[in-house]
Amino acid sequence: HMDLKPENIMLDRSGNIYLIDFGAALFAGEKLSGYGTKNYASKKQAKTEERADIYFDIYSLGKTMESLLKATDAVQKIIEKCLIDDDAKRYHNIRQIQADFERILRICRMKKGFMVVIAVFCIQNLWNQIQREEKREKEEENNMKFLDAEFVKGFIRMANDGWEQGWHERNGGNLSYRVKPEEVEEVKENFEAREWNPIGTAVPNLAGEYFLVTGSGKYFRNVTIKPEDSICMIELDEKGENYRIVWGLVNGGRPTSELPSHLMNLEVKKLQDERYRVVYHAHTTNVIALTFVLPLEDKVFTRELWEMATECPVVFPSGIGVVPWMVPGGREIAVATSELMKKYDLAIWAHHGMFAAGFDFDLTFGLMHTAEKSAEILVKTLSMQPTKRQTITPDEFRHLAKDFGVTLPEEFLYEK
Ligand code: 13P
Ligand code: ZN
Repeated sequence: HMDLKPENIMLDRSGNIYLIDFGAALFAGEKLSGYGTKNYASKKQAKTEERADIYFDIYSLGKTMESLLKATDAVQKIIEKCLIDDDAKRYHNIRQIQADFERILRICRMKKGFMVVIAVFCIQNLWNQIQREEKREKEEENNMKFLDAEFVKGFIRMANDGWEQGWHERNGGNLSYRVKPEEVEEVKENFEAREWNPIGTAVPNLAGEYFLVTGSGKYFRNVTIKPEDSICMIELDEKGENYRIVWGLVNGGRPTSELPSHLMNLEVKKLQDERYRVVYHAHTTNVIALTFVLPLEDKVFTRELWEMATECPVVFPSGIGVVPWMVPGGREIAVATSELMKKYDLAIWAHHGMFAAGFDFDLTFGLMHTAEKSAEILVKTLSMQPTKRQTITPDEFRHLAKDFGVTLPEEFLYEK
């Protein structure tokens, strides 16, 4: 048996005795598999090189009997009290003896009950701990697999690039990516769908699609070090009115407060060209600065930014739109921005930042970067003197457009 002790000896109501728990039992000659119960097992049982034999059980049986005898100490006391010479000190009637016996029995039962409660509590605790550990391991494994996907890596890299440019103070800015169906398949097994929530607008042309987005209030500077806490993957319902998180934001939270703008822009761009997948909002310092000194007009910003860097008309030939200052985070600004996105890939939010849309992470980041670089040159130029001594002329732009095979709308090539 290898683990004889009072707890492993059970008594039923009819007085039958059962030996239980053969978990440690061995055949004679087998190598010892572990130490029995302290105070019942012999010291030899702790030595793993020993082999099982009957002497281990005989020792434990002795110890078991010894502990049973201790339990009879109380009975011994009752016997002694019956045998006291002095009548006054002896029991006076049978009821008193019966009462003492019942008291002993009660204490025994209580001890047993207490042990059972402790045992159940310990087992439950251990079980919960095992379950928690298993859940944590599974989550970690899921996160690792999800984060291994190329599109997730591209998203994280882009967020970090924006942080390094200085466009994302605190939780400023947000990023979204319309995930391709084959990419959804790649990471689907790691999904754990949560409850549905309203988007705050309707995007029926994106119904049922999946998006990778930054979390509201999350810092871009943390996206590389704790992506599972900073970003999430969402699924839209069949009407394009509700979303649910299927991965990420492990410590709670919701997608960016600019989700209506991101989704409405992505919808407009998708209807234009299925290849559009990325929408990026950044707090680009120099573009913001210009919104305090230039008229808030598409044609002024487009022309000024085109002039400051020769590649600009090639990178954003359709121009750049300007949304006047509005309260961020809602449907109204989303409608205004998506209206401009019908015409442009870039939209400025006066005194706030910029939105860029593109086919992939490189193109979208490059677009934001180019426009902001051009704005920086303009800020520097204006800081030196209020007027330009020379610049690129409308005719030179027309020449450039021809050579580079782009169409530059005449509305931006006005005479100043
Ligand atoms: P979120 O943290 O909700 O994405 O908001 C940041 C921001 O830039 C709002 O315009
Ligand atoms: Zn913002």
